[in-house]
Amino acid sequence: MKKIGILFGQENTFPQAFVDRINSHKRNDIIAEIVKINKVIQGEPCEYDVIIDRISQDVPFYRSYLKNAALNGTAVINNPFWWSADEKFFNNALATKLKVKVPKTVLLPSNQHPPDTTSNSFRNLSYPLDWEGIFSYIGFPAYFKPFSGGGWKNVYRLNNEDEFFKAYSETGQLVMMLQEEIIFTEYFRCYCIDRKEVHIMQYDPRLPHHLRYVRGAMEVEKKLLKKIKEGVLKLNIGLGYDFNTVEFAVRDGVPYAIDFCNPAPDADVKSVGEDNFEWIVNASTRMAISKAESHIPGKNNLTWGTFVNSFVKNENL
Ligand SMILES: Nc1ncnc2c1ncn2[C@@H]1O[C@H](COP(=O)(O)OP(=O)(O)O)[C@@H](O)[C@H]1O
Ligand SMILES: [Mg+2]
Repeated sequence: MKKIGILFGQENTFPQAFVDRINSHKRNDIIAEIVKINKVIQGEPCEYDVIIDRISQDVPFYRSYLKNAALNGTAVINNPFWWSADEKFFNNALATKLKVKVPKTVLLPSNQHPPDTTSNSFRNLSYPLDWEGIFSYIGFPAYFKPFSGGGWKNVYRLNNEDEFFKAYSETGQLVMMLQEEIIFTEYFRCYCIDRKEVHIMQYDPRLPHHLRYVRGAMEVEKKLLKKIKEGVLKLNIGLGYDFNTVEFAVRDGVPYAIDFCNPAPDADVKSVGEDNFEWIVNASTRMAISKAESHIPGKNNLTWGTFVNSFVKNENL
């Protein structure tokens, strides 16, 4: 009997629906349940062949539990090692190599020293940085946001250098990116499951949360949808995420990937709506069942992106 588990935090609708949907298949070789942990011992397997992780970004104890589980053969979705390694700036950089368009972006050192460092820790940095070069590359208005994070926290839209320096002084120890604004005609939030199933949702980030998933929205050209789907797949195959969302802003008919490091994306029925929720539950059920079927006990059952695999095989990306 293969066992699929789900690890989650404060969300209330997706986890139980996922478990129930898998169990509704009434397979005598696969069951799903909510993960239960009562102790974690180094090098010892957990009881799950597949775990969907929806919460370890907020609970470091769970991330370590999942790495230990993966070492012992659990197919953890998403790969906890990769998720510990990447962030939005690297992902943008990777997108440039995968030939997916992204807004021009630069990385900036945190405004305040991280704990236990002094100015001596930063002697490799020029002071000042080449602000002129940075501003002329990015332009204004610009977005200014953390290199890792989500939920629109500490995301600024800035009109000029003065606004930039004021915002920068508020960001403390956060590592931030400055990014070209994409003034868009359309915006899409796309689910990608198993690096092959793509669900494109029209989304208007300018509306209040509960109205953002634009239901019954206007017709979108097939050609544009095809480009978006291709971009979504390229990014997730490159990164190695089996459960992720990608946001695209469209300018002059060209989709730019804005936010694609969302390995525990919002799946709440109240925000995504019934139809999108059904798609997410069904696609993640198909993925989890297929991972359980192909699971080989005691082996590395994680997904790695082509970026990592290209190093392992010493191939071009
Ligand atoms: N470069 C950009 N151009 C236009 N809009 C942007 C850009 N970056 C962010 N935004 C807007 O800000 C919102 C939040 O930024 P995002 O990168 O998605 O951060 P988070 O991960 O916190 O959701 C996006 O949904 C989008 O509406
Ligand atoms: Mg976002």
